[in-house]
Amino acid sequence: MIDLRSDTVTKPTTKMREAMFHAEVGDDCYGEDPTVNALEAYAAERIGKEAAVYVPTGTMGNTAAILAHTQPADLILVDKECHIYYYEHGNMSSFGGVMPVLSDTASGCPEPAFIEPYLQRDPRRFPRVSLICVENTHNRRGGQAVSLESMAALHEVACRYDTPVHLDGARVFNAAHALGVDVRDIAAQVDSIMFCLSKGLCAPVGSILAGSADFIARARRARKQLGGSMRQAGVLAAAGLVALREMTERLVEDHAKAQILAQGFAEFESLAIDPERIDTNIVILDTGPLGMAAPEFAQMLQKEGVQVSIYGPTMARFVTHHDVSESEVIQARDIACRAIHRCLGENP
Ligand SMILES: Cc1ncc(COP(=O)(O)O)c(C=O)c1O
Repeated sequence: MIDLRSDTVTKPTTKMREAMFHAEVGDDCYGEDPTVNALEAYAAERIGKEAAVYVPTGTMGNTAAILAHTQPADLILVDKECHIYYYEHGNMSSFGGVMPVLSDTASGCPEPAFIEPYLQRDPRRFPRVSLICVENTHNRRGGQAVSLESMAALHEVACRYDTPVHLDGARVFNAAHALGVDVRDIAAQVDSIMFCLSKGLCAPVGSILAGSADFIARARRARKQLGGSMRQAGVLAAAGLVALREMTERLVEDHAKAQILAQGFAEFESLAIDPERIDTNIVILDTGPLGMAAPEFAQMLQKEGVQVSIYGPTMARFVTHHDVSESEVIQARDIACRAIHRCLGENP
């Protein structure tokens, strides 16, 4: 089976497994796990923030960030397709007591003209907007990399009103490659950032939340509250260190593999896929023009040995990653293209 459902299916590399075996550990709740401490220090430096905390999942990292930045009854501004709003089971409201205000832009980045009126409102009469969230790369918007210009414009208006910006950077190293910038340049546009070690970087578990030392002190309390303080977590953090030291540069290979799929699909005019607009490792295919629902299309591919995920009634998502080779991606492209020809009633 060629599994293109997600980059989360990647397995830890041999080097990670060896590092896990040899990891020095201690009780991280006492701050005594040397491998977790090393990962947090290296991650903070790598991303250009004062401090960082290791969390079990990206979802917990985002939730801890919301808890550390906001008070109950506040509003947070988010894109309507972002992971925090779309997938995180209402954590912002159930744990933080905050409500979302939804922005909707093609880039997924809330725009100053939309944000500023909320920040200007009279706090005696309206709930306070205490956080703005942005996602880069943007998963549900096709793995797009949000430009530094858009992020800087957002940051500028947020700073003027003393409102923090949090980045869900689950795939921020993919964004850095797509934009041709250092990951620190992206992180510099936000007050806090979460990124995942467990997706394209192949660690089995774990994400990082980074920001100022004060913010991270509050986030550590939030992590505890959410049940995310672990004990001898160094066995996991050891793989995270390998991920961060050795796996970020190779993400360009995943982007090149996504181009193989995109170029194949671009042959079909009705699918309207432009490879130049595929920034990273995610290709979303609209099955509507094929007269087929996405679950049916996914089932058809599965029967021929290719797994994809369903992203909407007519949206199928293909994600390239470390554990599928270029030749498997070519094979998957050919299987998908033959299926598309059949749907369109054409002979390949
Ligand atoms: C953009 C984005 N943010 C956050 C997450 C959450 O990460 P986790 O699955 O580790 O909770 C994901 C997971 O797929 C994601 O794609």
